Amino acid sequence: MRKQIIAANFKMNKTDEDIKKYFAVFLDLINGLKNRSNLSGLDSDLIFAPPFTSLSGTNKIIKTCRDFIKLSSQNVYYEKSGAYTGEISIDMLASCGCEYTIIGHSERRNIFNESDELIGKKIEAVYKDGRLRPILCVGENLEVRKNDGQEKFVENQLLNALKYVKGTVIKSLIVAYEPVWAIGTGMPIKAEDGEAMHRYIYDYLESGYSISETRVIYGGSVTEKNIEEIMDKPHIDGVLVGGASLDPQSFYNIFRLASNIN
Ligand code: 13P
Repeated sequence: MRKQIIAANFKMNKTDEDIKKYFAVFLDLINGLKNRSNLSGLDSDLIFAPPFTSLSGTNKIIKTCRDFIKLSSQNVYYEKSGAYTGEISIDMLASCGCEYTIIGHSERRNIFNESDELIGKKIEAVYKDGRLRPILCVGENLEVRKNDGQEKFVENQLLNALKYVKGTVIKSLIVAYEPVWAIGTGMPIKAEDGEAMHRYIYDYLESGYSISETRVIYGGSVTEKNIEEIMDKPHIDGVLVGGASLDPQSFYNIFRLASNIN
């Protein structure tokens, strides 16, 4: 069975102080679990992507749970160091305890004009370095979906994002399929439509690359109400949660329901 991924993307929310309060509640809930001692053997990884300012602090807070709670950044730059005001390097992230990085989130693409070319270079740099596991976001907007163009659209995003990766061996890639029209709208994809896209993404990757440890996770209006239906689908390996991850009780409920913990 593929290990599932339950990830929280805090986006531009929460100060350091807020994060401390959040984890005081969240870790209390985790530590109160009957089967707490078994969590390291769980079939899920829990990932948190707080803002850059709280990566280091979060790393310290989760140190007793590093066996199943992991840290991700929300972005990364491809250069090692230098005159790139406002950017952050792989070295900096790794030194804060990051093991994952989100790349190409639709908010980066649409609000900050990140191009396919830039995303391709980020993926290349992360693979060359080898310390961070990329969570590559893809997904169509409503216009594309209305014209039934989502498969070709996402295929093109994948092709561009992976174009600088040398050879065809792609290890440990996490694709987050996040249809733009479902993000923050309260309108998640229908589980069967999600399953169809995830299967398409798997088929596409398998046809062009030699992949291993790939995961395809879903993002867009995931809540504790719809998580079970979504996770029930065989090609949906996990979720990337925005809004509903900001409340510790609600994200804990999502984690528990997704992981079948009583
Ligand atoms: P919402 O869960 O708020 O729809 O956000 C999804 C998302 O963009 C996660 O990266």
